[in-house]
Amino acid sequence: MELETLSLNTENGAETAPAPKKVFVKTYGCQMNVYDSQRMTDALAADGYAATEIIEDADLVLLNTCHIRERAAEKVYSELGRIRELKQEKAAAGREMLIGVAGCVAQAEGREIIRRAPAVDLVIGPQTYHRLPDVLRRVRGGGRVVETEYAVEDKFEHLPQPKRADVAKRGVAAFLTVQEGCDKFCTFCVVPYTRGSEVSRPVTQIVAEAERLAEAGVREVTLLGQNVNAWHGEGADGAEWGLGRLLYRLAEIPGIARLRYTTSHPRDMDDELIAAHRDLPTLMPYLHLPVQSGSDRILKAMNRRHKAVDYLRLLDRVRAARSDIALSGDFIVGFPGETDADFEDTMRLVREVGYASAFSFKYSPRPGTPGAEMPDHVPEKVKDERLHTLQALLVEQQQAFTQSMVGRTMTTLIEKPGRQAGQKVGRSPWLQPVIVDEKAGEIGDIIEVRITHPGFNSLYAEPI
Ligand code: SAH
Ligand code: SF4
Ligand code: F3S
Repeated sequence: MELETLSLNTENGAETAPAPKKVFVKTYGCQMNVYDSQRMTDALAADGYAATEIIEDADLVLLNTCHIRERAAEKVYSELGRIRELKQEKAAAGREMLIGVAGCVAQAEGREIIRRAPAVDLVIGPQTYHRLPDVLRRVRGGGRVVETEYAVEDKFEHLPQPKRADVAKRGVAAFLTVQEGCDKFCTFCVVPYTRGSEVSRPVTQIVAEAERLAEAGVREVTLLGQNVNAWHGEGADGAEWGLGRLLYRLAEIPGIARLRYTTSHPRDMDDELIAAHRDLPTLMPYLHLPVQSGSDRILKAMNRRHKAVDYLRLLDRVRAARSDIALSGDFIVGFPGETDADFEDTMRLVREVGYASAFSFKYSPRPGTPGAEMPDHVPEKVKDERLHTLQALLVEQQQAFTQSMVGRTMTTLIEKPGRQAGQKVGRSPWLQPVIVDEKAGEIGDIIEVRITHPGFNSLYAEPI
């Protein structure tokens, strides 16, 4: 009898519960967008949306966009053209598909997106993601919605925390935004306009989020910020903390075995942060510290507010604190006014530093930034040549770094199954993928390995 009631109930439940709506999120740009996409997915999950990897199944398609270079922004419009066709096909079959644009293009272009892309139903800027469910209700009520005003309330206070199972599904290495926005106004960069002014999340919020991640099985946390080392906040002791102090605190959380942070600005690398690299084994020996150019003239025009030599001396201090630290950087070639001699200064700086990895870009004029209005834009052909020359050197350095790992022993955090059967992929302290036999350990384990030989952008290793 009881069983029957039970099965009846289940059946009734199945009949009345509507199938969950589905959201497909596509992410462009930096790690912060990856983090934001997860938080938007969490906010939508609380509103009855299940995430899908299949765009055709989606009731809502969200593009989380990047505005950093022209090509990044243009990609969004061509993608929107394709999705529009899908939306029309679905409409013909009697099914609704809403299209939303989030991220930095949303913030920078706002209404313009609605004008240029008629299929878009909603545009939402990075500071208002917690209002997403409300925006969707307004869209359903009729009309297209643009929500790009900076919210007065703190979005992080209002965004729901992910469920433990969802965190676990996302893996043993997680991102955690601690700081957002930028007040530096480098003359080439749109970020201060798309992410707003610098805001630091409070210590208690960050610690609580890191603890939740750890409880769900996360072993490695990467703190994110457009200027992460400008983070500051009031600690439990009532004192003003910088990022260094925050790292000491996070290192105390049981389960968190590895900490990283990105991206930093050379001007905000203070003594305490450098000391954290000396004192904290949990803090991985890897520093992404963009310099953009090795020419003082160009650095000045870029408003980076330091000279090449300041950067080099800073790296000396970092290396004195942690001798095995690997350095990574960002470079822009062909900024307005850049001469052959300026470019040669960049090459010289790269030779002097010796990078383990680096990102390099051709300058892309961004509307509304001072750089776009400067005279003496560099011809595209020259930019191409300089990028090619710089990248050849950077690749050489990266390969030398990879090669130097052979024979070394190191820890590896096992992250996921390998692409080939019988393998698992982990990560070295220096961010390199490490391929081991699948029996070497379980996902989430940190094991000692010896590097046997280099792969393409990876390392092969045997457990010790
Ligand atoms: N907040 C970080 C980086 C932000 S954007 C920092 O301050 O370093 C990531 C990288 O994109 C930058 O470091 C820069 O190298 C590159 N970039 C930014 N604007 C660009 C532009 N207009 N053209 C080409 N590259 C750009
Ligand atoms: Fe952009 Fe400069 Fe701010 Fe970095 S520091 S986000 S490059 S303005
Ligand atoms: Fe792009 Fe915005 Fe990140 S412009 S790089 S998505 S902060």
